Amino acid sequence: EKHIILDCDPGVDDAFAIAAAILDPAIKLDLISTVAGNVSVDRTTKNALYLVQDMKAKVPVASGAARPLLRELESYEPWFGESGLGDYANGDLVISETDENAVAKIYETLIDSSQPMTIVGTGAYTNLALLLVEHPDIKPKIKEFILMGGTLSQGNMSSVAEFNIYCDPEAADLIYRSGIPIVTAGIDVSQKALIKFQTNDQLAGFGFVGDKLATLLKDYAERQENGFIVYDLNTIAYLRHPEFYKSRNYYMAIQKDGPARGASVADLSDRKDTNVKVLTDVDSQQLNDWLIKELAPLSKISE
Ligand code: BDR
Ligand code: CA
Repeated sequence: EKHIILDCDPGVDDAFAIAAAILDPAIKLDLISTVAGNVSVDRTTKNALYLVQDMKAKVPVASGAARPLLRELESYEPWFGESGLGDYANGDLVISETDENAVAKIYETLIDSSQPMTIVGTGAYTNLALLLVEHPDIKPKIKEFILMGGTLSQGNMSSVAEFNIYCDPEAADLIYRSGIPIVTAGIDVSQKALIKFQTNDQLAGFGFVGDKLATLLKDYAERQENGFIVYDLNTIAYLRHPEFYKSRNYYMAIQKDGPARGASVADLSDRKDTNVKVLTDVDSQQLNDWLIKELAPLSKISE
């Protein structure tokens, strides 16, 4: 069993990472923490709670940073509808977030763990950076970060910047310079990790949660010729099946300002002091087969 913390901003693709992490028998999801990003932190927290409630999971949800470290949360056209999760976030919410905020709760979870833990990040890295700043003693308790973010080629916020890093580049810079092992699933590998239309049609048959998730992908995910891009899912897929992926180690630095704000620049030389393992390719058939097996238990959850 791998104990993990998932810090996220759901988000349609975050919802897939959450569902996979909740259902996987080899993963013990000890905490979901939320951050502002796709939408406000109030919304991302609610969205996470709706998912946990629907899946009848016993995972605490802690609400975190309402804005990036040094900036305002930039308002832009929401990618996944006003709510951040399409029509998903409707109906009664009978569970609520923890009293403690995300940074305190992440710290406590790490301290309580007998082993160093993996932290998966699928939103801006604001909570994670605050954790390192407020609790410099915590580093040995973090085994690694598995993060959605960055790009070696084109961006989705500008020609060079990916959203999670663009949103809070100061936080990303802190994390990239932390010395803690980092794996990133960026835009490059996400574009190759397409979830096929047929896979999504199968998912729609997996009970009411499967149907809702499948609808979200259809309505909101980036559609390519051969399937949907589901960025954040690659973090959990890699955690469970690193053999699906190819990677390369780079020294990467974050650009914080100007037109290159949010760029994750890779040094292509052979330097040995690399700080990021970047996922570069994936066997998408294996990924699709895995996702179907992973989410099939949703069929057993009744409304
Ligand atoms: C990332 O930005 C968010 O909108 C998605 O949820 C994903 O984490 C993709 O750039
Ligand atoms: Ca996200």
